Amino acid sequence: MRIKNPFKFDIEVAGDFFCGRKQEIADLVEHIENETNIIMFAKRRIGKSSLLKEVFTHHLPKNILKTHIDIYSVSNIRELYLKIVKGIEESLLGFESNLKKLSRLVDKLQNYFANAKVSLVLSGKPQLKIEATEKDYFQAIESLFSHYFEFLADHNLQAVIAIDEFQKIVSLNESEKIEELLRTIANKRVNTSFVYTGSKRNILLAMFNDSGRAFFKLGTEFELPPISKNEFYLWVNERMALKNLRVEISAFEHLYHEADGETRFIQQVCHEIFRLHQNKDIIDLNRIQEIICDVIRKKTYNAQLLNRYTAAQQNTLKLIASSNGVNIYQNDLLSTFGVSKATAQSSLRSLLKEGVIFQDLNGALSFEDVEFKLWLRFISES
Ligand SMILES: Nc1ncnc2c1ncn2[C@@H]1O[C@H](COP(=O)(O)OP(=O)(O)O)[C@@H](O)[C@H]1O
Ligand SMILES: [Mg+2]
Repeated sequence: MRIKNPFKFDIEVAGDFFCGRKQEIADLVEHIENETNIIMFAKRRIGKSSLLKEVFTHHLPKNILKTHIDIYSVSNIRELYLKIVKGIEESLLGFESNLKKLSRLVDKLQNYFANAKVSLVLSGKPQLKIEATEKDYFQAIESLFSHYFEFLADHNLQAVIAIDEFQKIVSLNESEKIEELLRTIANKRVNTSFVYTGSKRNILLAMFNDSGRAFFKLGTEFELPPISKNEFYLWVNERMALKNLRVEISAFEHLYHEADGETRFIQQVCHEIFRLHQNKDIIDLNRIQEIICDVIRKKTYNAQLLNRYTAAQQNTLKLIASSNGVNIYQNDLLSTFGVSKATAQSSLRSLLKEGVIFQDLNGALSFEDVEFKLWLRFISES
């Protein structure tokens, strides 16, 4: 019998595919139950969206309505409105599954959403539709929420609304007006907790902590760390055991270190191990390094990414990747990559500004995109 691969890396996960994070789950549930707003940030691919999915599907009671809105692809206020409406429709639908009750719900909702037409679409899976009659999307968003809040209050319900990739707001036209609108909504919320998540730490914190900005002090900050190494290791080997495989601790530590703890990359390598190996194989340090190289070799889009930078920046990127972000101005490294210290310094400044490279409090440099780092190292060395 074929055993399904227990490691997923290209889709948000929950349930059996979800590893660890007991404390974070408990913290989030507590904030949501207390109707506290949450500002969650972490690098991309650490697992913010998956954590939301896990909490929403397995850890909240049914009388808390759940909305997960990903605004990554939104480019204007109309699209933002459409995303929000869809999220709200789904949250209301999720709370009632019986068809008879659903049609009663639609009648009830129509009384609340006065400036919209509420209907039930029954072809295929039932769908709830709330169509605004207003053409001003700012107005439409505002009334949508205020009617939603009224409905919650009258029915003794609670809600959580996650707006994922929230930093996107900043890049939209009229972003200040949108920030202002969403701030007003968050302030007038009833029985609701908002979760704002994002991967651009500096942008997000500037929105929430700058006293001149609309979102000033609107929620509690929640930095999502990588999954702890030990917990991840045990979880991985439990699943490897389905095929009688075992990853040695030194091999896993190497992977975790190379990946800077990034969940997605670790999962992808584990997926490959599980796919390629047979009964009783033991994965040691050499073997895991081979698999890491194979995975990285295939990521050819990194070449396009690299070509967006100037030659000086390209060399500086390679230098940072090779040195793992510490002591980057050593003479032998500078000469290997053919850059002067001054050039490396000015390139680094621009890379930090762009957010490709991060600097921690101790001065160590890291890549926003771990796969890009590993690929750069791979091509510099081969
Ligand atoms: N707790 C977890 N357990 C197992 N896999 C996870 C976990 N969190 C994330 N992943 C994996 O990593 C990938 C990236 O996670 P995602 O939730 O999309 O991150 P983010 O929203 O922070 O960018 C997911 O597609 C999923 O496969
Ligand atoms: Mg995400």
